[in-house]
Amino acid sequence: MRTKIFAGAAVIVFIATLASNAQAQCVVTSYNPVLGIPPGYTAEQGFKGRFDYPAVTTEKTPDFLIKEDFTNDWRSYLNAALNYAFEGNEDGTEAGVPTAFRVQANHKRNWYHGLWMDRTDSGREFLHGLTSERASRDNQLGDGVHGGAPTWAIGFYNEIGATTFAKVFKDPCQPDLSEVLFPIGTVSFKLLFSGASDATIPYLKDSPMWLADIDRKSATPTSRVGRLHLLQVDIAIRDPRAGKTGWVFGTYVYSDDVKSTDPWRRLKPVGLMWGNDADKKLGEPVVQSVINTDLHKVTYGWPGRLEMGWKGRLNGPLDNLISSCQSCHGSAQFPRSATFNNYPSAAVDDSGYNQRLADYFRDIAPGEVFDPVTHFLGDTTPVHAISMDYSLQIQTGLEHLCASAKKKEKPFDTLDIPKVCVPSSWTNAPLMTNSADQATQRKELNEIDWDALNAPVR
Ligand code: HEC
Repeated sequence: MRTKIFAGAAVIVFIATLASNAQAQCVVTSYNPVLGIPPGYTAEQGFKGRFDYPAVTTEKTPDFLIKEDFTNDWRSYLNAALNYAFEGNEDGTEAGVPTAFRVQANHKRNWYHGLWMDRTDSGREFLHGLTSERASRDNQLGDGVHGGAPTWAIGFYNEIGATTFAKVFKDPCQPDLSEVLFPIGTVSFKLLFSGASDATIPYLKDSPMWLADIDRKSATPTSRVGRLHLLQVDIAIRDPRAGKTGWVFGTYVYSDDVKSTDPWRRLKPVGLMWGNDADKKLGEPVVQSVINTDLHKVTYGWPGRLEMGWKGRLNGPLDNLISSCQSCHGSAQFPRSATFNNYPSAAVDDSGYNQRLADYFRDIAPGEVFDPVTHFLGDTTPVHAISMDYSLQIQTGLEHLCASAKKKEKPFDTLDIPKVCVPSSWTNAPLMTNSADQATQRKELNEIDWDALNAPVR
C-alpha cells in the first residue's frame, strides 16, 4: 500500500513500504534537488512532474490512429498526431506561452513525465523541467552557423504509455524491469528548445520563448536563467502498421513563415520514419523514411549537413548526424550498450565501420534487445540487458537514478541501493533477487562510471 502526501508544492513524496527498512521514504523530486532553485525564484514557481501513472488506462486507442494511415498520407497522419499531442496543452495565444504544456492543467487528456530525469547535472531544470541535451555542432543548424548553442528538452507520454511507467516505477526507488513493453496506441512527444535565436537562425523568428535555469553552475548565480526558443517537436507512436519495429517517428521544425496566430503551430513537418532500411546497401535510396524536401537549404542541403539523418534517414535539425530517430530509439536498453552507446560514433577505421553501421541500423522489434549481452561501464561482468522498448527516457531515467544513488543523494542516503544499478542483481535467477549486503552492493555501485553516461547523446 502506498499513501501520497504533498510536502511543499514542488516535491511529491511517495511512501513505499519496504521490507528491509519500514521507516525509509522513497522521495521523488520534480527538478534537480542539488542544483535547486535559481536566485530570485520561490519553490511555488517550480516545475511539477506528473508521475501518478495509472495501472490501467481509461483512454481508448487515439482517434487519429484509427482514422489516419501514414502509408497513405504521412503528412495528414503526423498533423493529426500533433493535434492530439497539443490539444489541451496550449491555449493558442502568445500570452499563454510561458505556462503552456503544464500537463496537470490539461483537461482534455492525461500526459505524464518520466521519473528520475531530474537527477545529474543534465537533469531537469527548475522552471520547465527541461533536461540538457547535446549542444549544436558547427554547420548543423545552417551553413557556416557556429555550434555550441545549448539544447534543452522535455518529453511526455500519453495515458496508454504511462501504464508501462506504472509497472516499472510501482516502487520508484526499486524499478521493476520485468514488463517494459508499451501498448499499441502509446504516444510520446518531445519539445526541443535551443539557445540559438533568429539572429543566427532566421526561421526561429517569433518562436515560443521559455526562460529556463540553463546556466546552473554560473559563476554569477544571478544570471542562471536564460532564454530558449522552440526549434523542434518530436513524436513517437506505437503503431503496428510500422511493421517489424512497431514504432513510427515524426518530427517538426519551427518556421516563422507558417502563418498561424498560435505560436506553437508555426511548424513544418520534417519527415516520418518507421524502419531503418536495414537491407539497403550504402548509397541505395531509403524507402522507410520520408523527408519534406521543401526544407532543402533550410534544415539540410549544405556541405556540413547534406541530409537530415544518416544517408537519407529521418532525424531532426538538432540530432546527431550519424543516426536516425528509429535507430537511436531502437537501441534503448538497460544497461545501455557498452559498444554502441546509442549511436555508431564516427569511423575509427573504415574497414570495420560498414559492418558497424549495418549492426546499428537494424530493425529492432518492440521488446527485442539491441545489444543483448553487455556490461556496466567500469565493470566487466557480462549482463543480459533488457529492452526498454524504444523509451530512451526510461533508459536515461534509470541511469540518472543510479548516478544519484551512487552520490547518496536523497532518498538514497537512507534507502537501499536500487537493485537494477548493480551487476550482481543481473546474474541472479530470478533477476534482481540480490541478497548481497548493502556494503557489497555499494562497492559495486561505486565502481560503475555513471557520470560517463551523463553526456547527452543526441
Ligand atoms: C542519437 C540519439 C537520438 C536520436 C537520433 C533521436 N532521439 Fe529521441 N531521444 C533521445 C534521448 C536520449 C531521449 C531521452 C531523453 C530526453 O527525453 O530528453 C529521447 C527522447 C525522445 C522522446 C520522448 C520519449 C522517449 O523515448 O524517451 C521522443 C518522442 C523522441 N525522443 C522522438 C524522437 C524523434 C521523432 C527523433 C527523430 C526526429 C529522435 N527522437 C531522434 C535520443 C535520440
